Amino acid sequence: MRKFTIFLALGALFLSTIGCTFSVIGKVFSLKGLTPAPVAGNVQRGEHLFKKGQDKAPPCLTCHPLQPGVFALGPSLKGIYERASSRVPGLSADGYLHQSIIEPHAYIVPGFRPIMYPDYGKHLGEQDIADLIAYLRTF
Ligand code: HEC
Repeated sequence: MRKFTIFLALGALFLSTIGCTFSVIGKVFSLKGLTPAPVAGNVQRGEHLFKKGQDKAPPCLTCHPLQPGVFALGPSLKGIYERASSRVPGLSADGYLHQSIIEPHAYIVPGFRPIMYPDYGKHLGEQDIADLIAYLRTF
């Protein structure tokens, strides 16, 4: 009988250890699931999208030329990543650039008219936007 009790106690200990291990593993996985992995941008793809566009969406280059002094419908994007974080209170640089691409009329750059192509959200996925932002960081 005594041996049986020890056997039971050891068995319970063994099971609870396994249980703990599984619950720890479970927590680690569920925590990972809760934090959305940020989409990493690819500068080369971003440059391609910027210069060539996608589907029927016009290239950004149409209105945001890269050479200074050239007439442009849109503002120069030189140094945009540094400016971006101070444009809209509460929006990080990435947040502001994301918004500027898919909701360009949410904030209008002073001195410009709201003529930016409004439907990029229909043509660009999250990966495309991340690629564009990665490219804009190099300006
Ligand atoms: C049809 C012309 C046009 C096209 C095409 C266009 N833009 Fe714009 N963009 C503008 C204009 C005009 C503004 C300024 C008015 C405003 O804020 O909406 C602007 C503003 C911006 C701003 C905010 C700049 C600042 O100083 O805060 C960003 C960023 C931007 N565009 C990125 C892009 C990107 C990336 C693309 C391509 C996916 C693109 N634009 C395509 C015309 C355009």
